[in-house]
Amino acid sequence: MSRFNLHLLARRVALRLRSWVSLSPKELAIEDAFRVTRTNGVKGHYLEFGVFQWKTSSVAAYLLRRYNMEQVHLYLFDSFRGMPDYAVAPFYKGQYATSRAIVERNLRQSGIAPSRVHLIEGWFEDTLPPLGKEIGAAAVIYVDCDLYRSTQLVLAFVTPLIQDGTIIIFDDWWLWHGQPDEGEQRAFHEWLAITPTIEAVPYRSVGHHGESFLLRTRR
Ligand SMILES: C[S@@+](CC[C@H](N)C(=O)[O-])C[C@H]1O[C@@H](n2cnc3c(N)ncnc32)[C@H](O)[C@@H]1O
Repeated sequence: MSRFNLHLLARRVALRLRSWVSLSPKELAIEDAFRVTRTNGVKGHYLEFGVFQWKTSSVAAYLLRRYNMEQVHLYLFDSFRGMPDYAVAPFYKGQYATSRAIVERNLRQSGIAPSRVHLIEGWFEDTLPPLGKEIGAAAVIYVDCDLYRSTQLVLAFVTPLIQDGTIIIFDDWWLWHGQPDEGEQRAFHEWLAITPTIEAVPYRSVGHHGESFLLRTRR
């Protein structure tokens, strides 16, 4: 078989596998975020706000291994007690409560070196302020904490960690009928208005529920 025919066969097998084992929009979005930050030479770590039982984080952990991005650490933030008392419908206080033991078991099964995973347990109000310098820089930020107030805290925290080319993904951008004055959208629009050093360029959608942006710095 000629090299060209072999190539065509390999492409056909790849396409067939892709339709059998289709990746979710979230997986594809995180994959693209890692790839574009790597292509652009953006240094820094993966930060996730709202971890629950490590489903999204497991995707990030897998992709980091697949792309040999060994220098990238995972910084994962959650109360593990569920939503805070300022949760608003459709969310409620205590929703998504889980145990850290479940998260740690899932983490072990994912095969990523535990030294690269930093689980930061507690309310963002308490855990975020003392941590900034320790992380240094963010390449990919995954915001999955749903609420306006929680997202506000997250954005204030990540501001000094953002690089030229950092990707920020909002898992719940289209909640509340996509209204710009609710939830993650509201927090992001307000933050951009008071942060003139950072500009957001629309990057890609995350299925039917999320959006992501490439952040450019004007420092
Ligand atoms: C939708 S869940 C996250 C889902 C997760 N990414 C997954 O892969 O399944 C939202 C999470 O945000 C967390 N959260 C929301 N606001 C928070 C806050 N202010 N402090 C700490 N955790 C918060 C909740 O504990 C909850 O686990």
